[in-house]
Amino acid sequence: MSFKIIIINGPNLNLLGEREQSQYGSTSFDKLKENCTKKSKELNLYIEFVQSNVEGELVNIIQDSRKKFDGIIINAAAFTHTSVAIRDALSVFKKPIIELHISNIYKREEFRQKSLISDIVTGGIFGLGIDGYILAIIAMQKILINENR
Ligand code: DQA
Repeated sequence: MSFKIIIINGPNLNLLGEREQSQYGSTSFDKLKENCTKKSKELNLYIEFVQSNVEGELVNIIQDSRKKFDGIIINAAAFTHTSVAIRDALSVFKKPIIELHISNIYKREEFRQKSLISDIVTGGIFGLGIDGYILAIIAMQKILINENR
């Protein structure tokens, strides 16, 4: 069985490789997408990899995912700390969700140490750099296989 997952990226993640390399590394967004696509193919998963800087667009993407995808991996970026709308949309998605952050948000400024989505997701990965995306894909596959046994 081939599962379908969506990897949703929030604001400014399109600038990966260019922004704050000390936090987010030097890999570009396109290269990250390529790495995720490659890993998913290896694992026989169908993935969509999306990014938006617009909160409402992310809400629409999450809502539409209910019928199309078996799981969500989300790096909501700055909206993690502010968006009740994204939290509410994720709450309606009754399937596995992995919260992801490239940096360790708990080691950074106080305003980043609060996530509005951590308590409604299945699990999370943070502080492991962009490898976190690959780890999240592997973890999501395991969750979906276990759930469908
Ligand atoms: C981030 C952490 C957020 O605080 C920040 O606003 C981001 C990226 C991360 O991946 O480490 O844009 O989600």
